[in-house]
Amino acid sequence: MAIFEPSKADASPLMEIEDLVIRFPIRKGGKRAFITPVDHVSFSLRESEVLSIVGESGSGKSTIGRTLVRVNVPSHGRVLYQGRDVSHIKGAELRLYRSAIQMIFQDPFGSLNPVRTVEQHLTFPLRKYEQVTGDKLSARIDELLGRVGLTPVRETRSKYPHELSGGQRQRVAIARALAVGPRVLVADEPISMLDVSIRAGILELMNELKRDFRISFLYITHDLASARYFGDRILVLYGGRVMELAPSSELIRNPLHPYTRLLLAASPGNPSRGPLPETSNSAPNLLEGRRGCPFADRCPLVTDVCRDEVPDLVDHGTSQLRHFVACHHA
Ligand SMILES: Nc1ncnc2c1ncn2[C@@H]1O[C@H](COP(=O)(O)OP(=O)(O)O)[C@@H](O)[C@H]1O
Ligand SMILES: [Mg+2]
Repeated sequence: MAIFEPSKADASPLMEIEDLVIRFPIRKGGKRAFITPVDHVSFSLRESEVLSIVGESGSGKSTIGRTLVRVNVPSHGRVLYQGRDVSHIKGAELRLYRSAIQMIFQDPFGSLNPVRTVEQHLTFPLRKYEQVTGDKLSARIDELLGRVGLTPVRETRSKYPHELSGGQRQRVAIARALAVGPRVLVADEPISMLDVSIRAGILELMNELKRDFRISFLYITHDLASARYFGDRILVLYGGRVMELAPSSELIRNPLHPYTRLLLAASPGNPSRGPLPETSNSAPNLLEGRRGCPFADRCPLVTDVCRDEVPDLVDHGTSQLRHFVACHHA
């Protein structure tokens, strides 16, 4: 299966996800069955690129993110970092990979330790992964806190998570991820639990990290507006499958998949085409062996072929501007 590159002229990608399938055992009517919340997903991520994964709850976004950080193991397909399959790496190579790919979560309160100060949160990864101690350690902590905008740094160092605002806590989580010199940040809905007023500040900080450190982001969100603001490309996921993948401005201007158009119609203040009627709002069937397009049950354009055959992801763009869509009627 092809790997989806924005343009052939680009340098080789930092990460390649090839035909990834994740399956989990479940119990259905007392019997053992499997769901595949990630179903033949492929994409690449270049240095200093932001790829947004957009889709509603349950579409498989976090499962993909957790696979990149090796919490989930691929049932099929590969995750490549700098051309190396990372599924079976061990020892020193795995330690390097673990520091190269860091994850930021939705709930910064849940990911910080309530009995540790900000300083302690940063000391641990700096000692373990960077082997810095003494004055150097202290200077690095100040530098990191300054970088994520937690000033005055002296005051911030001694604070506990409960003494910080949600936005400040997310900045601590980002500083901790930065401490180990990551190349990729998997940011799983990092602003969705924050006050609307401070969301833009966190997105702006991530933008600076992308620009200044050439960090790549897998930005997971259910909100197309922030994906458009922050992402270079947008991948629209539904029922564990890629519906559409294109540069952000192209995808917003020229959405080709009915699901993308529904998402756009639902996002506030969007100048897209008029809303499409929603035919149902049932959750997608994730059972292994399901047939057809996962969006068929909800799609206003559905025909027989949609229920029988999974549509291939096909490039409807140009060699300069690649625009992939999986729809029989695109
Ligand atoms: N470890 C697991 N075991 C069984 N099912 C899981 C597991 N992790 C995720 N799932 C299921 O996979 C589906 C996709 O979940 P998730 O990736 O969290 O979606 P999203 O992040 O898009 O909301 C959900 O139905 C979820 O219940
Ligand atoms: Mg999730």
